[in-house]
Amino acid sequence: MTSVVAPPYYRLEDWQGGHRTQPQEFAYWVEEVTGTIPADLTGTLFRNGPGRLDRGGQRYHHPFDGDGMVNQVSFCNGRAFYRNRYVQTPEFQAEQRADKILYRGVFGTLKPGGWWNNIFDLRLKNIANTNVIYWGGKLLALWEAAPPYRLDPANLATLGLDDLGGILANGQPFSAHPRLDPQGFLVNFGVQTGPSSHINLYEFDANWGLVRHHKHPVAGFAFLHDFILTENYYVFFQNPVHFNPLPYILGWTGAAQCLQFDAEQPTRILVIPRQGGPVRVFLTDACFVFHHANGYEQGNELILDSICYRHFPTIDQQTDYQTVDFSRLPSGQLRRFRVNLTTHQVRNTLLLERCCEFPQVHPQRVGRAYRWVYLGVAADPVANAPLQGILALDVQTGRQQMWLAGSRGFVGEPVFVPRGEAEDQGWLLTFVYNAARQCTDIVILDAADVAAGPVATLHLRHHVPYGLHGSFTPLLFAEEARV
Ligand code: FE2
Repeated sequence: MTSVVAPPYYRLEDWQGGHRTQPQEFAYWVEEVTGTIPADLTGTLFRNGPGRLDRGGQRYHHPFDGDGMVNQVSFCNGRAFYRNRYVQTPEFQAEQRADKILYRGVFGTLKPGGWWNNIFDLRLKNIANTNVIYWGGKLLALWEAAPPYRLDPANLATLGLDDLGGILANGQPFSAHPRLDPQGFLVNFGVQTGPSSHINLYEFDANWGLVRHHKHPVAGFAFLHDFILTENYYVFFQNPVHFNPLPYILGWTGAAQCLQFDAEQPTRILVIPRQGGPVRVFLTDACFVFHHANGYEQGNELILDSICYRHFPTIDQQTDYQTVDFSRLPSGQLRRFRVNLTTHQVRNTLLLERCCEFPQVHPQRVGRAYRWVYLGVAADPVANAPLQGILALDVQTGRQQMWLAGSRGFVGEPVFVPRGEAEDQGWLLTFVYNAARQCTDIVILDAADVAAGPVATLHLRHHVPYGLHGSFTPLLFAEEARV
């Protein structure tokens, strides 16, 4: 590990600076670069996240309610062209015109005017803010409760809702966590949940041809944000939560505040054969999972690596997320689950104690035995805290390499860009909010030598609010970057 930092690892005011709305849309060559952008880095990084975090003078209750703003960074010939644009959903446009919150947010944002103005209003704003992928000629902004929005990859203009050729009829949801099978398929799911739930599973070829489609019932309320794809299975962790919608219906809270974690109930691991067949359920100790790192099959076992919280890390309706006490929330820790498909035994071990999120692996290792996972991590080695570094973990040996962005730097997801077949041969691209500049940097790390620090740091002229997920394609779209 290169970086040694001492407490205090960060200042809350610095962290808060990365939650400011970015109302402007930009398009420019990044001229301020420290280090050298690799000459062999060619293609486009897309990243989505909440760009607007307030409206009409009222802050959203949670960043997850923020309106989707897509970032595009085109790399060619050792240079980088940056662009950002909002996803122009009709709901976003209506709020722009009114300069007022017109829709409630899932994570607790309420319309002004108190409960009387929110009661019984259960309309959802498609905020299209969670991920962005390029597949089969389409650039799609994803949000798990609705169909995707299609964007023009040349300029990020919004083209409209996309039902994938009628497959997502009647507003069927399409999750923000598709997985790419190394065999060349995009696999994704959509959950329709309530007192009982069902999962739709879709596998698409490179032309959006539907290769497989399953629909499975799931007992109880299903909060499923992500899944694991192996060679033969889809795997979900069904968190032990109850949903009492009354406070939401009455206009007191968002839907997310109606989730109650039940530590007495097990987490249910749902294993669904890709070839078809019933859902098999395996039980493990209560934990809460948003994201999975990877998983694979080994004999009669499934090896599943997931980021687990002791309970649902929620913010209640009275708490301001900007002043949240991190120490009162559980931290995400990487755990390995071994599910024996024959005996039904599930064992789990801790792979990484340090608070972490946003796991990534080499795309060719998805669903296969693997060695290296890349994560955003806290600088504090034990406590829950904002992500301030990138860590490479060898899950076979426990060996670690880490780079920390300093006490005033706050990192996002490290997107892995392969350079070859070797698992650690690639670049890691991440957005870093630099509180010293009150602007955002884009950092390029060598995945094989994370501890060496950035090979290049691109200094943007402005800040980009903390984001969620993104992806990379070796293709170039931006007209400016093709010359
Ligand atoms: Fe996610």
